[in-house]
Amino acid sequence: MTKIEQATESKISVAFCCLGNICRSPMAEAVMKHAAKEMNMAQLFDKVDSFGTSAFHAGDGPDRRTVQTCRANGVPVHHVSRQVKPSDFEKFDYIFAMDHENMEDLKYMQPRNSKAKVVLFGSYSKDPKLDKIVSDPYYGGPDGFQRSFRQLDHFSRSFLQSLMDRET
Ligand code: 4NP
Repeated sequence: MTKIEQATESKISVAFCCLGNICRSPMAEAVMKHAAKEMNMAQLFDKVDSFGTSAFHAGDGPDRRTVQTCRANGVPVHHVSRQVKPSDFEKFDYIFAMDHENMEDLKYMQPRNSKAKVVLFGSYSKDPKLDKIVSDPYYGGPDGFQRSFRQLDHFSRSFLQSLMDRET
Protein backbone atom coordinates (compact mmCIF):
# COMPACT_ATOMS: atom_id res chain seq x y z
CA MET A 1 0.00 0.00 0.00
CA THR A 2 1.31 3.46 -0.89
CA LYS A 3 1.72 6.25 1.63
CA ILE A 4 -1.18 8.19 0.15
CA GLU A 5 -3.48 5.14 0.29
CA GLN A 6 -2.61 4.64 3.95
CA ALA A 7 -3.22 8.31 4.71
CA THR A 8 -6.58 8.47 2.95
CA GLU A 9 -9.28 7.18 5.25
CA SER A 10 -12.04 7.03 2.66
CA LYS A 11 -12.28 7.39 -1.08
CA ILE A 12 -13.48 10.68 -2.46
CA SER A 13 -16.21 11.41 -4.98
CA VAL A 14 -16.04 14.40 -7.29
CA ALA A 15 -18.37 15.79 -9.95
CA PHE A 16 -18.01 18.51 -12.57
CA CYS A 17 -20.77 20.89 -13.50
CA CYS A 18 -21.37 23.23 -16.45
CA LEU A 19 -24.55 24.44 -18.13
CA GLY A 20 -25.35 21.77 -20.73
CA ASN A 21 -23.14 18.83 -19.62
CA ILE A 22 -22.06 18.19 -23.21
CA CYS A 23 -18.93 20.36 -23.65
CA ARG A 24 -16.91 21.36 -20.58
CA SER A 25 -17.97 19.09 -17.72
CA PRO A 26 -17.81 15.73 -19.58
CA MET A 27 -14.39 16.86 -20.81
CA ALA A 28 -13.40 17.66 -17.21
CA GLU A 29 -14.64 14.25 -16.03
CA ALA A 30 -12.62 12.50 -18.75
CA VAL A 31 -9.49 14.58 -18.10
CA MET A 32 -9.62 14.01 -14.32
CA LYS A 33 -10.00 10.23 -14.76
CA HIS A 34 -7.10 10.20 -17.20
CA ALA A 35 -4.83 12.38 -15.03
CA ALA A 36 -5.66 10.32 -11.91
CA LYS A 37 -4.63 7.15 -13.76
CA GLU A 38 -1.42 8.75 -15.01
CA MET A 39 -0.55 9.96 -11.50
CA ASN A 40 -1.40 6.54 -9.97
CA MET A 41 -4.21 8.08 -7.95
CA ALA A 42 -7.30 6.49 -9.54
CA GLN A 43 -7.74 4.22 -6.52
CA LEU A 44 -8.41 7.26 -4.32
CA PHE A 45 -11.70 7.94 -6.08
CA ASP A 46 -15.05 6.34 -5.51
CA LYS A 47 -16.94 8.34 -8.18
CA VAL A 48 -15.91 10.83 -10.88
CA ASP A 49 -18.99 12.12 -12.69
CA SER A 50 -20.48 15.22 -14.33
CA PHE A 51 -23.82 16.96 -14.84
CA GLY A 52 -25.34 20.23 -15.98
CA THR A 53 -27.33 22.92 -14.20
CA SER A 54 -29.80 22.65 -17.12
CA ALA A 55 -31.58 19.69 -18.72
CA PHE A 56 -31.15 21.21 -22.23
CA HIS A 57 -29.21 18.18 -23.49
CA ALA A 58 -30.30 15.45 -21.03
CA GLY A 59 -29.72 12.03 -22.61
CA ASP A 60 -27.22 13.33 -25.21
CA GLY A 61 -23.60 12.24 -25.57
CA PRO A 62 -20.74 14.77 -25.43
CA ASP A 63 -20.53 17.45 -28.16
CA ARG A 64 -18.49 16.13 -31.11
CA ARG A 65 -15.91 18.92 -30.59
CA THR A 66 -15.37 17.72 -27.01
CA VAL A 67 -14.95 14.16 -28.31
CA GLN A 68 -12.50 15.32 -31.02
CA THR A 69 -10.46 17.46 -28.62
CA CYS A 70 -10.24 14.70 -26.02
CA ARG A 71 -9.32 12.15 -28.69
CA ALA A 72 -6.63 14.47 -30.13
CA ASN A 73 -5.13 14.65 -26.64
CA GLY A 74 -5.31 10.89 -26.04
CA VAL A 75 -8.15 11.05 -23.51
CA PRO A 76 -11.20 8.76 -23.85
CA VAL A 77 -14.55 10.44 -23.15
CA HIS A 78 -17.84 8.63 -22.45
CA HIS A 79 -20.82 10.27 -20.83
CA VAL A 80 -24.59 10.75 -21.08
CA SER A 81 -25.77 14.25 -20.17
CA ARG A 82 -28.00 14.76 -17.16
CA GLN A 83 -29.14 17.58 -14.90
CA VAL A 84 -27.90 17.97 -11.32
CA LYS A 85 -30.35 16.70 -8.67
CA PRO A 86 -30.58 17.35 -4.90
CA SER A 87 -29.09 13.94 -3.97
CA ASP A 88 -25.87 14.88 -5.84
CA PHE A 89 -25.06 17.28 -3.02
CA GLU A 90 -24.88 14.31 -0.62
CA LYS A 91 -23.30 11.88 -3.07
CA PHE A 92 -20.22 13.99 -3.91
CA ASP A 93 -17.53 15.47 -1.67
CA TYR A 94 -16.69 18.12 -4.26
CA ILE A 95 -18.74 19.64 -7.06
CA PHE A 96 -16.49 21.66 -9.35
CA ALA A 97 -18.13 24.51 -11.26
CA MET A 98 -16.71 25.70 -14.57
CA ASP A 99 -17.77 29.37 -14.26
CA HIS A 100 -19.39 31.82 -11.85
CA GLU A 101 -22.87 31.28 -13.26
CA ASN A 102 -22.59 27.53 -12.58
CA MET A 103 -21.35 28.36 -9.05
CA GLU A 104 -24.30 30.64 -8.34
CA ASP A 105 -26.84 28.17 -9.75
CA LEU A 106 -25.35 25.28 -7.75
CA LYS A 107 -25.28 27.28 -4.53
CA TYR A 108 -28.91 28.26 -5.07
CA MET A 109 -29.89 24.59 -5.60
CA GLN A 110 -27.76 23.12 -2.80
CA PRO A 111 -29.90 21.65 0.00
CA ARG A 112 -29.09 23.19 3.38
CA ASN A 113 -26.44 21.24 5.36
CA SER A 114 -25.61 18.88 2.49
CA LYS A 115 -22.02 17.69 2.36
CA ALA A 116 -20.70 18.75 -1.07
CA LYS A 117 -18.15 21.52 -1.28
CA VAL A 118 -19.10 23.63 -4.32
CA VAL A 119 -15.86 25.07 -5.68
CA LEU A 120 -14.79 26.98 -8.80
CA PHE A 121 -12.52 24.37 -10.44
CA GLY A 122 -10.12 27.10 -11.61
CA SER A 123 -9.40 27.97 -7.98
CA TYR A 124 -6.87 25.09 -8.12
CA SER A 125 -4.86 26.90 -10.80
CA LYS A 126 -1.18 27.43 -10.16
CA ASP A 127 -0.63 29.06 -13.56
CA PRO A 128 -1.35 32.81 -13.63
CA LYS A 129 -1.41 32.69 -17.44
CA LEU A 130 -4.51 30.47 -17.43
CA ASP A 131 -7.93 32.02 -16.88
CA LYS A 132 -9.63 30.52 -13.81
CA ILE A 133 -12.97 30.59 -15.63
CA VAL A 134 -13.58 27.74 -18.08
CA SER A 135 -15.76 29.77 -20.42
CA ASP A 136 -18.48 28.22 -22.55
CA PRO A 137 -16.95 27.03 -25.87
CA TYR A 138 -20.32 25.91 -27.34
CA TYR A 139 -20.88 28.84 -29.71
CA GLY A 140 -17.22 29.27 -30.73
CA GLY A 141 -14.70 27.34 -32.83
CA PRO A 142 -12.39 24.39 -32.03
CA ASP A 143 -9.79 26.71 -30.42
CA GLY A 144 -12.16 27.22 -27.50
CA PHE A 145 -12.32 23.48 -26.87
CA GLN A 146 -8.53 23.13 -26.91
CA ARG A 147 -8.28 26.10 -24.54
CA SER A 148 -10.80 24.43 -22.18
CA PHE A 149 -8.79 21.20 -22.40
CA ARG A 150 -5.55 22.96 -21.37
CA GLN A 151 -7.28 24.59 -18.40
CA LEU A 152 -8.99 21.37 -17.28
CA ASP A 153 -5.79 19.34 -17.56
CA HIS A 154 -3.88 21.85 -15.43
CA PHE A 155 -6.66 22.23 -12.83
CA SER A 156 -7.08 18.43 -12.56
CA ARG A 157 -3.37 17.84 -11.98
CA SER A 158 -3.23 20.72 -9.47
CA PHE A 159 -6.22 19.28 -7.59
CA LEU A 160 -4.59 15.83 -7.53
CA GLN A 161 -1.34 17.37 -6.31
CA SER A 162 -3.27 19.18 -3.55
CA LEU A 163 -4.59 15.78 -2.38
CA MET A 164 -1.03 14.45 -2.30
CA ASP A 165 0.18 17.49 -0.37
CA ARG A 166 -2.68 17.08 2.12
CA GLU A 167 -2.37 13.35 2.58
CA THR A 168 1.36 12.68 2.59
P1 4NP B 1 -21.49 23.23 -21.74
O1 4NP B 1 -21.81 24.01 -23.11
O2 4NP B 1 -22.24 23.98 -20.65
O3 4NP B 1 -20.02 23.36 -21.60
O4 4NP B 1 -21.99 21.81 -21.94
C1 4NP B 1 -23.10 24.31 -23.55
C2 4NP B 1 -23.80 23.38 -24.27
C3 4NP B 1 -25.07 23.69 -24.74
C4 4NP B 1 -25.62 24.91 -24.48
C5 4NP B 1 -24.91 25.85 -23.74
C6 4NP B 1 -23.65 25.54 -23.27
N1 4NP B 1 -26.92 25.24 -24.97
O5 4NP B 1 -27.37 26.38 -24.75
O6 4NP B 1 -27.57 24.39 -25.59
